[in-house]
This record gives sequence, structure tokens and C-alpha cells, in this order.
Amino acid sequence: MHTEKKHIIIAVTGSIASYRSCELVRELTKKGYPVTVLMTENASRFVGPVTFQSLSSRKVYHGNFSEEMEHIDIKNLAGVFCVAPATANMIGKMANGIADDLISTSYLAVNCPVIAAPAMNPQMYASKPVQRNLEILKQDGVHIIEPVHGTVVCGDTGQGKLADLEIIEKEILKFYNTSLNEN
Ligand SMILES: Cc1cc2nc3c(=O)[nH]c(=O)nc-3n(C[C@H](O)[C@H](O)[C@H](O)COP(=O)(O)O)c2cc1C
Repeated sequence: MHTEKKHIIIAVTGSIASYRSCELVRELTKKGYPVTVLMTENASRFVGPVTFQSLSSRKVYHGNFSEEMEHIDIKNLAGVFCVAPATANMIGKMANGIADDLISTSYLAVNCPVIAAPAMNPQMYASKPVQRNLEILKQDGVHIIEPVHGTVVCGDTGQGKLADLEIIEKEILKFYNTSLNEN
């Protein structure tokens, strides 16, 4: 794997907002940043890996199990690790140390700033388990980019929509540049 420069890792999980990460990857790549995309199996039901591969001009890592220890490659590559969108499921796994797919396993392995931008139905977001898990992640040093208020695809209104891409991009670059300067 190409490791001469640390990469921005965009980890995409299975939310209806997955398609918005395409724009995020496109913008960062257009600006000249090296971007590597990871996807859960469920994320690839929403957006095909080929789309992210074209937008980032790099191999996309997806699926649950690899014989090649890809999480260690990701650990060595990551300058910042951003889960966007982050499902309730992935937030729960990260908060509890569950490592049963490439994203949750890589999360445990990386040694760089971690960002998570949740996106989900407002009732899911407000639920006690999700709020509890987010609190754990914050205590563990994960930078949470709060979702915004609005009407989600299913018609419910409240806090749960993925934050504005400009805000996510700004946070990613802030932590990426800091992490590059420290290494
Ligand atoms: C159409 C559709 C949209 C979904 N959107 C979301 C979402 O925005 N946020 C979320 O937490 N789960 C959402 N889910 C449920 C997740 O896809 C489901 O919990 C899945 O197990 C997440 O897998 P992953 O975290 O491995 O990607 C959605 C499911 C469907 C069928």
C-alpha cells in the first residue's frame, strides 16, 4: 500500500446519508488531499465502492473480513480517521470495542485523531443507548460532529441529519493538519 504520506480516511457506514460522503471525498480529493475510503458491507448497499474509487482515485476497502490484515495497513496510513456518516450501529460498536468489520477494527488500531458524524432518524439519535454511546466516544477522545435539525427522509423532524459537509470538511482538515505537524 502507498504509505509515503498520511491519508485522510473516510469511513462510510450504512445510512441513507452515505451518498453525501461522495461529495466530501470529491471535495477533499479535488483539493489535493490523499483520501482513502473504507465502507461497511451495508454502506455498499447505498453507494457502490466503484463510485468512491473513482472519486478518490484510490482503492476502496470494503467488506467485513480480509485475509490481508487491512486494518494494520489503515493504522499505518491514517492521518485522521473520520466516520461519516456514522450509523447508530457503528457508534455502538466503537463505544464498546466491538471489532467485527474493517471500520470498527481499524478504529481500535489507529493512532490518529478520530471524528464521527452521526446521521440517523431523530428518535434513534435521541434514544438512551445512542446518547450513552456518544458520551462514551466523547470520553474516549472522539470528536463528534453533531447532526443538525431538519426533516429526515422518512418524514420525521428533529435532530439527526448529517451535519453540513463544509463543517465536516473543516474539522477533518483541522485535525489532519495538526496530526501531520506532530509527525
Ligand atoms: C433505507 C435505510 C436507511 C437507513 N438509514 C440509516 C441512518 O441514516 N442511520 C442509521 O443509524 N441507520 C440507518 N439504517 C439502518 C442501518 O443501515 C443498519 O443499522 C445497518 O445494520 C448499519 O450497518 P453498518 O453500521 O455496518 O453500516 C438505514 C436502513 C435502511 C434500510
